[in-house]
Amino acid sequence: MTNILITGAKGQLGNEIKELSLLYKNFRFYFTDIEELDISNPKAIDNFVSKNNIDIIINSAAYTAVDKAEEDEKMASLINSTAVLYLTNTAKKYNIPLIHISTDYVFDGNSYLPYIETDETKPLSVYGKTKLYGEKHALLYNKSLIIRTSWLYSSFGNNFVKTIIKISENPEIKVVFDQIGSPTYAKDLASAILKITEKITNNEIVEYGIYHYSNEGVCSWFDFAQMIIKYLNKSTKIIPVRSELFPRPAHRPNYSVLDKTKIKKNFKIEIPFWLDSLYECLDKIKKD
Ligand SMILES: NC(=O)c1ccc[n+]([C@@H]2O[C@H](COP(=O)([O-])OP(=O)(O)OC[C@H]3O[C@@H](n4cnc5c(N)ncnc54)[C@H](OP(=O)(O)O)[C@@H]3O)[C@@H](O)[C@H]2O)c1
Repeated sequence: MTNILITGAKGQLGNEIKELSLLYKNFRFYFTDIEELDISNPKAIDNFVSKNNIDIIINSAAYTAVDKAEEDEKMASLINSTAVLYLTNTAKKYNIPLIHISTDYVFDGNSYLPYIETDETKPLSVYGKTKLYGEKHALLYNKSLIIRTSWLYSSFGNNFVKTIIKISENPEIKVVFDQIGSPTYAKDLASAILKITEKITNNEIVEYGIYHYSNEGVCSWFDFAQMIIKYLNKSTKIIPVRSELFPRPAHRPNYSVLDKTKIKKNFKIEIPFWLDSLYECLDKIKKD
């Protein structure tokens, strides 16, 4: 039996991993969130890992309030950066792999081609900066695998999809069209993480380091909203606007498409098209 620690299990990604975990009978999962295991407490991490003979750590905990982070840098830095160092140190001490999740917000968005893992990072926000430091900490250990993802949504938690559903009763809504990226259904990311975990535990040749994962295809937030409204069969008018019209505390990259060639090649992962996954998630939200 392989013992797997999941941190931040009450979040979007953590919940999706939990749902899929039933398919992995050879894994014993330890789902924790801040009440069970606060990742900013290094002693607690060490105790938990040693007491439960953890074989692999998957860190899905994070400080994800992107705008709030601008005025709460201390807390964002503690969770996204310092705590990752604590997890890395523990993983190193017990010689177990660490899978850590990062973000497209480590880039400045000035590219016009999908970002590859080795492209220069230049975060525009406190959140992006703290996540980049988290990556740097994880990379101090040679059994860390970092997955950068973008525009995460799920039937769990709050996200763009849920917001659009909520405001779809309005006759019209304004959505930015000048930020381009790729949505990621957290269930697809969870499935990729578990496949990678399986390969690691089967001792299949694994290259650690940084990887990119999102759904296939590219869209703007405006396109994304259009497809949600279309699915809902609502007559809500969506007005495309520039980001300047919605000034927010944190700057976001205008272009944050991630190139996923490396993860697909190294782990033989097939990635669904974003629209297919969006409809799957909307079906689930409707059913629930
Ligand atoms: N959401 C996105 O659009 C997006 C985009 C790109 C990358 N990512 C990355 O993807 C990963 C998963 O994101 P997500 O959307 O699933 O995040 P999420 O829904 O915000 O979940 C994160 C979980 O971590 C918990 N947490 C916070 N501080 C903690 C601590 N000290 N100890 C243990 N748990 C703690 C949170 O609890 P509270 O809710 O109580 O704080 C929450 O349950 C993160 O690394 C994130 O940076 C997210």
